[in-house]
Amino acid sequence: MDSRIRTYQVAADYIRQQTGGYAPLVGIVLGSGLGRLAESIEQPVVIPYRDIPGFPVSTAVGHKGNFIIGRLGGKTVIAMQGRFHYYEGYPMDLVTIGIRTMAVLGVKFLFVSNAAGAANPDYRVGDLVIIRDHISMFPNPLIGPNLDEMGPRFPDMTCAYDLDLQALALRCAEEMGFEPRKGVYFGSTGPTYETPAEVRFYRTIGADLLGMSTIPEVIVARHCGIRVFGMSVVTNCANFDNQPKNLNDGEDVVKQADAAATRMTALFAQMITSL
Ligand code: HPA
Repeated sequence: MDSRIRTYQVAADYIRQQTGGYAPLVGIVLGSGLGRLAESIEQPVVIPYRDIPGFPVSTAVGHKGNFIIGRLGGKTVIAMQGRFHYYEGYPMDLVTIGIRTMAVLGVKFLFVSNAAGAANPDYRVGDLVIIRDHISMFPNPLIGPNLDEMGPRFPDMTCAYDLDLQALALRCAEEMGFEPRKGVYFGSTGPTYETPAEVRFYRTIGADLLGMSTIPEVIVARHCGIRVFGMSVVTNCANFDNQPKNLNDGEDVVKQADAAATRMTALFAQMITSL
């Protein structure tokens, strides 16, 4: 057996021991400043990543490093409060370790969130955007020997973001009285933000949102058959020209995301209730 499978099994066993055998249906990844969703999880069991065999420790601004397992919308969920970014220097197997551990635990749905910059000039800070597709500048996390136990060598990515879950999000948002946008997430490694020339290029090829996460997790989730819903909170509008204004900084990104977190939390909870 590939030693990675053993790593995921040991991690999943540890989590099962801590939770008395909770079997989560839904996994949630909470992006920068979006960790508050964790407060809505009832009967929570908090498991710091550092206690889990094989797990690294997350270091990014605004990110905690815990799994939170409990009940949300009448379902058992497992949330990652803090994720592992490629720009932190982790290899892809560690960037995606949380997702594969969730798969071993039996998770069938993954809700991923992130803070993103807007390359679409119609977007405003605080907008919630349903991710309908992505463009990846990351090395593919599935490069290397295929984990046949988890999924196929050449996974299809036509509907990486589940169409039924997107429709459900629109219905739930309508009931809640708002209309999310739909957009294409463009992911690059960071840690630098894009130059204005890059922003113009990425916009030209179809980017609505710019970010430094999410895609490796989505690819790995799809590889093992987990259905994915993705949502971005727009925390800044990308700069299209070299004017020294509106410069992006990490603290501001965290603050803006916080303001939209409440609405996104309610939407996720509503969607999970309806699964
Ligand atoms: N670019 C890349 N990643 C980001 C941005 C951005 O403008 N804002 C938040 N994360």
